[in-house]
Amino acid sequence: MMPFQTHPHDPLPSLSAEQIARLQESIDTVGMGVWRDAVSPAFLDAARSFIGQQLDEHDHQYFSLHGERWLAASPLKAIAESTALRQTVDTLGKHVMAGRTIKMNMAASMRVLTGELGQRHSERYHYDSYVVTVLVPLIMPDVPGEPHGDLVLFPNLRGVPGSAMLNIVEKLCVENGLVRALWRQPRVQRWFGAKVMKMTPGNLYFFWGIRSLHANQACAVGRVRGTALFHFGDPHAGGVLKRLSGAHHRFKQQRLARRASVKIPTADL
Ligand SMILES: [Fe+2]
Repeated sequence: MMPFQTHPHDPLPSLSAEQIARLQESIDTVGMGVWRDAVSPAFLDAARSFIGQQLDEHDHQYFSLHGERWLAASPLKAIAESTALRQTVDTLGKHVMAGRTIKMNMAASMRVLTGELGQRHSERYHYDSYVVTVLVPLIMPDVPGEPHGDLVLFPNLRGVPGSAMLNIVEKLCVENGLVRALWRQPRVQRWFGAKVMKMTPGNLYFFWGIRSLHANQACAVGRVRGTALFHFGDPHAGGVLKRLSGAHHRFKQQRLARRASVKIPTADL
């Protein structure tokens, strides 16, 4: 996709209405829209330096960052504040909500997989809470014969849940340990039309996170896989059920960390 124009200080080039429409059509039909060569090599260099510093602080083990503090201190802040990205996701949000208006609030996170804990945080199939997910690959292992940590996506498996209760029930049905083991099976993935996608740093990847079950495959223990994730538009934000669901998510993250005897930060998603 070729850039249309660029706003001063915006790391991303703006897209025309036609380009956003093509992105939207691709997400609807194949489950994923790709904005190619969206971020510059200089931006990737800065993001990788940030990841290197964070790895030093996390004993070179898996970590994830959530909330606003990490973002303010990271080069990813420029993506979060991008006018071009905001225009794009606002249009996509109106489309996926089919006339229902929601606030396109944003939650940004960073996930860096490496070591044994990185393996444990792989193939954990889930739906996001937000309608639009933008995945920004920053470091992807690319060694022949080794797993790259590809994204596995079951495109548009469900609609946008009409209530927080329905969302939680559906998530419990597909995200529990027993069923997760099934989603990992290549045969099950073929039955449900799952797509295995290699992520290329520089591109941005868009999908309907609340509609598409997804997870990353593991990469080799000694490699590093770093991504930033920008989620937009939680249709059930602010409710009691949502807070309970957030607490449950934090509990599961802490349990994973305890099993590996590694302390990891967690926060609301
Ligand atoms: Fe996700």
